[in-house]
Amino acid sequence: MPSSGFLVKRLVECVDFDTALDIVELGVGTGCVTRELLRRMRPDARLVSLEINPTFIEECRSIEDPRLTLRQACATRLPAVLKEEGMTGVDAVVSSLPLSIMDDEVVEAVLDASRASLRPQGRFVQYQYSLSHHPRMTHRYRDVAVGFTLFNVPPAFVYQCSQRPAEGGGPTRPRAPLASVYAAALAVAAVTVRAYQQL
Ligand SMILES: C[S@@+](CC[C@H](N)C(=O)[O-])C[C@H]1O[C@@H](n2cnc3c(N)ncnc32)[C@H](O)[C@@H]1O
Repeated sequence: MPSSGFLVKRLVECVDFDTALDIVELGVGTGCVTRELLRRMRPDARLVSLEINPTFIEECRSIEDPRLTLRQACATRLPAVLKEEGMTGVDAVVSSLPLSIMDDEVVEAVLDASRASLRPQGRFVQYQYSLSHHPRMTHRYRDVAVGFTLFNVPPAFVYQCSQRPAEGGGPTRPRAPLASVYAAALAVAAVTVRAYQQL
C-alpha cells in the first residue's frame, strides 16, 4: 500500500540530509519514498534502493536521477549489495518493509543486516502500523525514538533508531506523546477482540 504524503514526510525527515552521503532504502514499491529522499538529498549523496518485486523495479526505472541505484534484491542481501556497489557503510537505512507480515527469520536477518551496514552515527528508520517490533529495535539500538502520524490510513508509528542520539535531541528526532495513547488504544482493541473471540 503506498504511504500518504504525511507518512512519507515523517519517515524521510528522520534522515539528517545535511550530513548523509550514503543512504539505503528497503522496499521501494511505487517509489514515493524514493522520490522524496532524492528531493531532499545532497547533490553529492547516493541512494541505493532495494526492492524484491521486479514489476516495481521496472516501474521505478522512470525515476531519472544519477544519484539513484535501483537493485532488485531481497533486503536480507543488503551487505552483499553494498559490497557490489563498492560501499563500506551507510548513513541511513530507510525501510518501508511490511515487517508484520514477513517471516520472523527474514525480519531478523534484515534488521541485523541493516544494523551491521550503518556507520556509527547512522540511523535506521522504519514505519509500522503497530508497535509490535519495538522490542526488536531496542534490542539492537541504544536510542529508539518513536514518532507517530495520525494523518495516514491507518495511523502509523515511525521508529528512528541509532547507536548515538542526535546532538541535543536533534531537530529531526521524532517526539510523539500521541503515539503512547494510540498504542494503548490498539492494545485495548486487541485484548477486546481476543476476549470476544473466546465468547
Ligand atoms: C508497503 S510497500 C512500501 C512501498 C513504498 N515505499 C511506500 O512506503 O509507499 C513494501 C514494499 O516492500 C517490498 N518488499 C517486501 N519484502 C521485501 C524484501 N524482503 N526485500 C525487499 N523488498 C521487499 C514489497 O514488494 C513492497 O514493494
